[in-house]
Amino acid sequence: MNDPISAKRAEIMAIASGKGGVGKSVILTNLAVLLARHGKRVLLLDADLGGANLHTLLGVDRPTPTLTDFLTRNVAELSDTIVSTPFAGLSLISGANALMDMANPYAAQKAKLLRHLSMVDFDYVLIDLGAGSTFTTLDFLAAADQTLLVMMPTPTSIENAYHLLKAVLYRKITRTLKRLNVDHLLPRGLDEDVRRGRRSAWDLLNELAHIDTALTVEAARLTRRLQPRIIVNHANSAEDLRLGRQITLACQRHLGLTADFLGDIRTDERVLSAVQQRRPVCDVHPGCPFATALEGIVLRLLKDRHGESEK
Ligand SMILES: Nc1ncnc2c1ncn2[C@@H]1O[C@H](COP(=O)(O)OP(=O)(O)O)[C@@H](O)[C@H]1O
Ligand SMILES: [Mg+2]
Repeated sequence: MNDPISAKRAEIMAIASGKGGVGKSVILTNLAVLLARHGKRVLLLDADLGGANLHTLLGVDRPTPTLTDFLTRNVAELSDTIVSTPFAGLSLISGANALMDMANPYAAQKAKLLRHLSMVDFDYVLIDLGAGSTFTTLDFLAAADQTLLVMMPTPTSIENAYHLLKAVLYRKITRTLKRLNVDHLLPRGLDEDVRRGRRSAWDLLNELAHIDTALTVEAARLTRRLQPRIIVNHANSAEDLRLGRQITLACQRHLGLTADFLGDIRTDERVLSAVQQRRPVCDVHPGCPFATALEGIVLRLLKDRHGESEK
């Protein structure tokens, strides 16, 4: 367990996307391997409870116990679910064999998981999530220090990513209102309206402005703190390569969010070849375009973390 005085809490990064199949799991697995190669102690958490596959991408056989065992209280401590991987410095909590009814764990179970995560002795906790705006995904994103948002250069992927960002922002604000015990001030049904995209976090902020100035200021502060970090996968054409910057501008203009463009990744056939071998791409094909792009992203993440610790 951490020494409470000298220990620094792990940086919690969650990866999300509006649509599935955009490359979240391969990207996160390779980021984790590369961060560990830079000497960081990394914990990968597979919280895609409906489609957990990080163990396969890392070549870890049937890990037990898994996250499900913690959520169902088969094991008391989260640390009992942490298994080692073939990569020095990289550990895994697998979501393998998740029960179907675990795809949507209860709020109390999620809160307990987040509490335990804030106490683990690692430099980074990287959380893989299912696609879209399920309550589980939103809760993890709202609690994470950083949100990595992966999209592909297709109109549907971009549209769904915006929708997800709006939903996370809303979730962050409502969590704060709950914490302050003033969530009863919110109009009934707003939650469902926002999830379905009929109303947005902006509507919520407007409602708040009529109710309480201090709350509005707090909500605006949360908005500023949510800085999604964007990765564009399968960016192959000159037009695709402009997308990252365009999205960050649009986030500022339309959502009031300061997004950060982390980098582009090209389509690379070596990704599939590595997945078939059940090994991370950066391990089987170091120096390939995919591995090189991820190394660039890792250097950005490390630089920011380092800069932060000097503040
Ligand atoms: N840059 C890439 N080049 C080639 N194939 C990729 C690339 N990124 C992802 N893939 C492939 O796309 C598929 C979906 O990736 P995955 O990480 O499982 O997506 P998600 O976790 O978002 O559902 C996998 O078969 C993976 O190998
Ligand atoms: Mg996945």
